[in-house]
Amino acid sequence: MSEAAQTVLVTGAGQGLGALIAAQLHAAGWKVAVSDIDLTAAQAVAEALDASGDTACALALDVAHHASFETALAALRDRWGSVQALVNNAAVTVATPVMEIAPEEFQRVLSINAGSVFAGCQVFGRHFQDNGYGRIVNLASLAGQNGGTATGAHYAASKGAIATLTKVFARELGPSGITVNAIAPGPLDLPVVHRVVPAARMAAFLKNIPVGALGDPTYVAATVAHLLSPAAGFVTGATWDINGGLYLR
Ligand SMILES: NC(=O)c1ccc[n+]([C@@H]2O[C@H](COP(=O)([O-])OP(=O)(O)OC[C@H]3O[C@@H](n4cnc5c(N)ncnc54)[C@H](O)[C@@H]3O)[C@@H](O)[C@H]2O)c1
Repeated sequence: MSEAAQTVLVTGAGQGLGALIAAQLHAAGWKVAVSDIDLTAAQAVAEALDASGDTACALALDVAHHASFETALAALRDRWGSVQALVNNAAVTVATPVMEIAPEEFQRVLSINAGSVFAGCQVFGRHFQDNGYGRIVNLASLAGQNGGTATGAHYAASKGAIATLTKVFARELGPSGITVNAIAPGPLDLPVVHRVVPAARMAAFLKNIPVGALGDPTYVAATVAHLLSPAAGFVTGATWDINGGLYLR
């Protein structure tokens, strides 16, 4: 199957890494559904890719709600027939100190970051099972492997859960021609990181990264595209580290 024949949904694609992933997949020939809780942001990204709507469209999708994935899938099936791939990218990045996290805040972060991966893999996984083919990439994080440094316990726990869910869904969906993988980036050169690490602390922050630099988000987007390709059928259940040497297995 060529990329040109394929359709993908990217969550949280109204800005940041998700927008870059949407752009790279579109440039590679995919039809891209740019979804976000912020529809205006998703529309701006989709229109920049293809204002005609033929190969890019915007969808309002709040990933905290399982039913929203059903609605998005139905809309895409109406529009483009079927979907071949899903990128679970949406997340909230928060840094509340662990002893100050209220139970409601913990639940909210877990339900947006990890609940979305569960919902996306289940809802789109069923559609992919019906088609006998599918590709899923989940955005985990270095924080899920090392407990996090600049981010909160709820964020780190949610990202650890994503790596585990990736394995469970990979095993479940593998026999149906579906692969499920995760990418665990370290700090990338993106607005979120510059918000958490102010300019005055950046030089000291970079000294602790073995390669001495923030990660290039376009390389992460290219890795997503690589894992979504039909040729990547033997990679599943994996979490690919892109972390500048901050965490070595
Ligand atoms: N930036 C980094 O250095 C870094 C490092 C490791 C992992 N990641 C992961 O990469 C992904 C993207 O990160 P980013 O830096 O682009 O983040 P970001 O905060 O810039 O963008 C997140 C997007 O998700 C959307 N979103 C938030 N809540 C949502 C919801 N309930 N439903 C739908 N959309 C929602 C936001 O509107 C936004 O467009 C996240 O999963 C993040 O955890 C990022």
